[in-house]
Amino acid sequence: SWTMLNIVEDAVAAVRAQVGDGRAICALSGGVDSAVAAAIVQKAIGDRLTCVFVDHGLLRKGEAEQVERDFVAATGVKLRVVDASERFLKALAGVSDPEEKRKIIGREFIRVFEDEQRAILADGPADFLVQGTLYPDVVESGGGTGTANIKSHHNVGGLPDDLKFSLVEPLRALFKDEVRRAGEELGLPAAMVWRQPFPGPGLGIRIIGEVTQERLDILREADAIARAELSRAGLDRDIWQCPVVLLADVRSVGVQGDGRTYGHPVVLRPVTSEDAMTADWAKVPYDVLSRISTRITNEVREVNRVTLDITSKPPGTIEWE
Ligand code: XMP
Repeated sequence: SWTMLNIVEDAVAAVRAQVGDGRAICALSGGVDSAVAAAIVQKAIGDRLTCVFVDHGLLRKGEAEQVERDFVAATGVKLRVVDASERFLKALAGVSDPEEKRKIIGREFIRVFEDEQRAILADGPADFLVQGTLYPDVVESGGGTGTANIKSHHNVGGLPDDLKFSLVEPLRALFKDEVRRAGEELGLPAAMVWRQPFPGPGLGIRIIGEVTQERLDILREADAIARAELSRAGLDRDIWQCPVVLLADVRSVGVQGDGRTYGHPVVLRPVTSEDAMTADWAKVPYDVLSRISTRITNEVREVNRVTLDITSKPPGTIEWE
């Protein structure tokens, strides 16, 4: 729309004024905020922006490709991809505690990102770090602007202490729906623009128990089926998000094909919400639930039971960890 076009163009002009002929770095997470921020900065300064995508191996099916292929095709952004999945798996080995997982994932992310920053800085100075801070984040953290101490939230990322950058925050005045509209205006892939909330630690906190490659593969398949069926039923905009959780340390008896199985349950956790502070379990139509259940148990050999979480928040959180 006309106004959205103006908002994007104003943001681009503001970035151009701030960065001048300097260079900037931006970490992409796969989410809409960092993608739109990067696309705006790319429009402003072109190849003087370098994006970094740390693939921690905990994203859902197709999401890494969305960043590496579709986002790059849509924007022409200069991107460095680091496949760090083995490193993350190694660091997570033997760990079941949720907060411990978050700490490890956050720590490894910062280490990998710092290495990338150093490599980028070896090519020449870069004084600017792009962040997808939204207006509600600004308000929540007290409104300060500047170079330091932006709230790292519980998100993966945050600023390494020893590297000093000025922040470029092209979304600081925008709400989420405006960011999505800007993303459409900028021609970003629809799957990114309309992606539902997804936690920074990714599938790492949706495997109850230790995170292993095999478990990630199982969960990724089950999650992809649930997402596909919810989308096909036209429920994407009604449902806030639908975590699929693998109860990796639980087994139950089943019959699949012509034999007894002893597989894992997955939990569907569809919720409706305004802001994730409170949530209600989503009344997904039975036929949709039924299709998800049938497809998961048919197509994911290791899963022989699909269950539905009917707990509101509070008392349950949206995620299981
Ligand atoms: P809970 O489980 O606390 O989740 O009801 C509320 C919202 O926050 C997301 N979430 C996270 N996001 N890092 C994130 O970036 C995290 O560690 C994290 N934990 C929960 C969750 O998906 C929901 O949207």
